[in-house]
Amino acid sequence: MEMATRIIILYGSQTYTSQEIAERIWRTTKILGLKGPVMAMDDYPISRLIHEEYALFVCATTGEGDEPDNMKSFWKFLLRKSLPTNSLVNLKFGVIGLGDSSYDKFNFAAKKLHKRLIQLGAQPLLDTALCDYQHDLGHDAVMIPWLQSFYGKLKPMQDIDSDIGATKFIPRWRTSLFKNDIETCENGLNKDMYFGNSNTDHFVNPIYLEVDSNQRTTHETHFQDVRLISFKTVQDEKMNYCPGDVFNIRPRNSKDDIDDLFSIFETHNIDIKPHYMLNVEEYHEGKNLFLFWKKKNEIIVIE
Ligand SMILES: Cc1cc2nc3c(=O)[nH]c(=O)nc-3n(C[C@H](O)[C@H](O)[C@H](O)COP(=O)(O)O)c2cc1C
Repeated sequence: MEMATRIIILYGSQTYTSQEIAERIWRTTKILGLKGPVMAMDDYPISRLIHEEYALFVCATTGEGDEPDNMKSFWKFLLRKSLPTNSLVNLKFGVIGLGDSSYDKFNFAAKKLHKRLIQLGAQPLLDTALCDYQHDLGHDAVMIPWLQSFYGKLKPMQDIDSDIGATKFIPRWRTSLFKNDIETCENGLNKDMYFGNSNTDHFVNPIYLEVDSNQRTTHETHFQDVRLISFKTVQDEKMNYCPGDVFNIRPRNSKDDIDDLFSIFETHNIDIKPHYMLNVEEYHEGKNLFLFWKKKNEIIVIE
């Protein structure tokens, strides 16, 4: 029986549970000596899928049986009628569905994905893992034994402890610091991670807002500090929204706080300057699929 040497782990996640689980499984696959990345389905260059031999999909369901946002393009592509039914004959796969049986359409996205992959010629290594948040043991009740069998399919000759990933930390990101001088970094400092061209996040129409007011709505003696925070757009920018829209806020550090922090570094002779750049790369078999430049108003902890 053949052994896998590479596996791609792709997730569709709305509120990060599937992403976190996918990254945990990815760490275990590294311990098993398997190459390959972990990423959101929409971040994976889908034209490469026909060349892959092994894939694991970790797929949540959101809305009313809908796919999470970060797998929508991938899913739309898979649904193309023009795709031949033998497109994925090289691919052996597993699907872990993360769902909640209190919803009518339990694990719909994972079930549909599993079915469609088979229609395109891929071979399932196992039935879909239908993990249920309502179970007393949560998703783990189905996922742990399922993963044990799945690892056994990838590495059939080995006795695999399903918990190996929990004991050893393997970083997903490799970081390096560039102490460039201010001139060479000028462009970098002006780059805006959320609004500039280097935007790698799944934002739909990002808008810059400022806090207009921030009031405590609970009594001071109450243990919970509940706030009513109002925002305003700047430069008469209009914001269109309708009922049901989700509003995602990415807070930023204020310029004063950033300046304070760097002056503390300076006072204590800590060599971190605003114009230094931190390069964060994905760790897998020497391929850098993504490269992020982070700048001074995003503080990063280097492991
Ligand atoms: C707004 C919302 C809608 C959901 N809809 C479904 C659903 O239709 N079917 C289902 O099985 N689970 C549903 N779930 C449960 C999620 O799939 C489950 O909590 C999962 O762990 C979320 O994974 P994620 O954090 O990676 O998005 C829903 C959860 C939320 C918050």
